[in-house]
Amino acid sequence: MAVYGVLGDIHGNLEALEAVLGALEARAIRQFLCVGDIIGYNADPDECAAQLRRRHTVAIAGNHDLIGTGRLDFARCSNMARYSLKRTRRTLGRDTAAWLGRLPPNRLVEENVLLVHGGVRDVEQYMVTPGHIRQNADYLRADFPAARLCFFGHSHEQKVYAVDGGEVADLALSSERIYLSREKLHFVNPGSVDAQRKSRHKLAECAILDTVGWTLELLRLPYDAASTEAKAAVFGYRINRLTDRLYSLRSKFLRADSRRNAAR
Ligand SMILES: [Fe+2]
Ligand SMILES: [Fe+2]
Repeated sequence: MAVYGVLGDIHGNLEALEAVLGALEARAIRQFLCVGDIIGYNADPDECAAQLRRRHTVAIAGNHDLIGTGRLDFARCSNMARYSLKRTRRTLGRDTAAWLGRLPPNRLVEENVLLVHGGVRDVEQYMVTPGHIRQNADYLRADFPAARLCFFGHSHEQKVYAVDGGEVADLALSSERIYLSREKLHFVNPGSVDAQRKSRHKLAECAILDTVGWTLELLRLPYDAASTEAKAAVFGYRINRLTDRLYSLRSKFLRADSRRNAAR
């Protein structure tokens, strides 16, 4: 039993990751969990992976880690994700790719804490409604009966849900310590370390889990988002308008083509 820093959706954003790790290490946290999407969107995939590996982080693969290493296709990607992942594929170090390639799709910690990226059975599912949580609570009970807490990412929003039978409560977020009930299941998104695409704030998010007291804290930290953005632009991770339009036209054409083939 221990205290863990819980991270996710880092997306190659070194400035945000360093802000989070600095804050957690200042609180003497030495164990780290990661719910995936270590790479994609920003310019420092290798260094972000190295920071996690240096700390022996217990990590799983997100859809960006799978796509960036050729284990998943671009079918469900936005234009921006597709463009930056193509750039990431060209730059990713061999050592980083091999490490990312070994990350599992889910992982149990201390036998009752599960890490997934999207949904329990679908790495690219966005769990954003109580209905999604109810469905995934059923999957959790069936596939991981010992799990009481499920950390997930992908939707990039800090969230804490409590599940009691068929009831799902969306708990109000707080900077105070949250006491989790041992009688209920919980689904927690620690938020995204990378905040470059957020319009509401540019704060790096993470969580602290104490498995002794069964408590949770949610953190939001400032970082140098302007430097991250400048690097991403200079090193070719940002899609321009024309390419964005061309990607959209290509997707439209491919969709029409597959509809025609299906109708034959
Ligand atoms: Fe993500
Ligand atoms: Fe994701």
